[in-house]
Amino acid sequence: MGAVRIIHLTKNFGELVAVNDMTLEIPEGTIFGLLGPNGAGKSTTTRLLSTLLKPTKGTAELAGHDVLREPVAVREKTGVLPEESNHTHYPSRSTYDNLVYFAKLYGVPEEEIEERVRTLLEFMELWQRKDDKAGELSTGNRQRLALCRALLHNPSILLLDEPTSALDPIAAKRVRELILNLASEYNQTVFINSHNLPEVQRMCDQIAIIDEGKVLLHGKMEELRSTLYSQQRYRILVHGDVNAAERIAKSQEFVKSSKTEIDSIVVEIENPVQNNVKLLKAMIDAGVNVVEFSEEEATLEDLYLKVIKGGAQ
Ligand SMILES: Nc1ncnc2c1ncn2[C@@H]1O[C@H](COP(=O)(O)OP(=O)(O)OP(=O)(O)O)[C@@H](O)[C@H]1O
Ligand SMILES: [Mg+2]
Repeated sequence: MGAVRIIHLTKNFGELVAVNDMTLEIPEGTIFGLLGPNGAGKSTTTRLLSTLLKPTKGTAELAGHDVLREPVAVREKTGVLPEESNHTHYPSRSTYDNLVYFAKLYGVPEEEIEERVRTLLEFMELWQRKDDKAGELSTGNRQRLALCRALLHNPSILLLDEPTSALDPIAAKRVRELILNLASEYNQTVFINSHNLPEVQRMCDQIAIIDEGKVLLHGKMEELRSTLYSQQRYRILVHGDVNAAERIAKSQEFVKSSKTEIDSIVVEIENPVQNNVKLLKAMIDAGVNVVEFSEEEATLEDLYLKVIKGGAQ
């Protein structure tokens, strides 16, 4: 059974359908990435899963608890980093006191609070800022504090809405490592909303791309690749006239698409075992100086641009 089961989940705001009949199953220990353009419904989904909003139709289960029937149990099992996490602390209280306050609220045993707060602040490199008022921290440090807060009660599921958006590269790397560690060592399930495609590609075991509240694609990176690309892609690096190389590529019926990128062309080739040699020969016969001919794996950005309307050039 999945750690997160989303079952025909729907949320309307008046006429607007923000989440539209979403069904997804995310196994325990998975790092899951939810992608989609601004307004696609990612944060609304997170709010529904964290019981901050009630579904219009459908439901979801987290760690076996239904968001509608058992919201308290869901909250006990989940740690949430909301989209507006920068503004959810008590600004006039210290960093330390904020965490102690929330630890009590989340039911962390009294004798464990001090140690837990200290460990998290040290990990996020906020210990030196423990006496600073939360409202006076930088945006990135407030996001770090919010991450500490999401982890306070050792949740088995983490719902993170753009967890590294305000972090500097080193802090972002630490958070990525932390997330990978939580999933592999503690089998925690991590649900991440993000616009950072390389980060999602590197970290996530499963990815869904949504638009207008609807799931357009869901699966592992390789599955998304094979769903979208029936042909294999190659990069041909050319010294000299790239346009001549592209003209030759376009004139072959087995080349299904081609695009120029500075000093190379990227082509999709049908039946490459037979046809790569033909293409290479045609180019060499025409005097094109081919420096390299290599397989090109589609990136998550390629897939994203292909499925999102207006993404393809
Ligand atoms: N409380 C609300 N009342 C009315 N409409 C809302 C409310 N919350 C969200 N919406 C609308 O629902 C849609 C989905 O918004 P949501 O915040 O879930 O998008 P998102 O994918 O998180 O976008 P972003 O990438 O910009 O964070 C948008 O059209 C938004 O305007
Ligand atoms: Mg959002």
